[in-house]
Amino acid sequence: MNSVPKKAIIAGNWKMYKTIQEATDFLQTLIPNIQPSSNEVLLAVPYTIIQTAVELTKDTPILIGAQNMNDASEGAFTGEVAAKMLLEIGAKFVILGHSERRHIFQESDAFIHKKVLRAFVDNIQPILCIGEKWDERQAGKTDEVLKNQLLADLADLKPENIDQLIIAYEPIWAIGSDKAATPEIVQEVHRHIRDILTESWGQHAAENARILYGGSVKVDNASTLLQQPDIDGLLIGGASLTPETFSKIVNMQINKTE
Ligand code: PGA
Repeated sequence: MNSVPKKAIIAGNWKMYKTIQEATDFLQTLIPNIQPSSNEVLLAVPYTIIQTAVELTKDTPILIGAQNMNDASEGAFTGEVAAKMLLEIGAKFVILGHSERRHIFQESDAFIHKKVLRAFVDNIQPILCIGEKWDERQAGKTDEVLKNQLLADLADLKPENIDQLIIAYEPIWAIGSDKAATPEIVQEVHRHIRDILTESWGQHAAENARILYGGSVKVDNASTLLQQPDIDGLLIGGASLTPETFSKIVNMQINKTE
């Protein structure tokens, strides 16, 4: 499994944008523009769009997923959505712990941890987001903040879970700010994340985990980011909303020097 070079994962996060009609228009433009040699394509769309997007992307390489879910299998949790409900309508993955969930909706590491466990129990691919604030970076605390998030959010997981995991490093100061982290910073942080995974779950699992970068990724900076050895893909907000820009990133051919 390890000997075959993996394609990059290009994941779009639409946040609270697009109606079903807008999503349909987007996909009808995007789909014919995806080349056979494209990277892996994931789109995290609003709940209301999942079913339509799944139908429209049937027989394409695009995987549709959600941006959040609850940790319980079902229950009296008004307004929440369970993993099995997402799976039923064809969602293949779910973003967990996005910084907007952590900071606007006060989601704690303890809650995110329970969601990660649920994702593995119910068999939906989690994309766990972690990232530091600007003042934490300035104070030299980036490594410590990320380690604390990882160890809290991934507690009790087994090496075979880490093996399947997708992590997105999204420094909060870079999200929607037009100030993407430099490829050098991201590479260094991703190496650090892999070291933490290696310490707790072993090298094999750490190497198989996919680590994406997110935060002001655009057509102009995507390819230099993807060339870094420890950047396995990108999680893209703003630039995933227009099919013309998103397809350019999706089709980027990256030659990594291993
Ligand atoms: P951005 O968002 O690309 O618009 O910075 C990234 C994200 O929040 O996942």
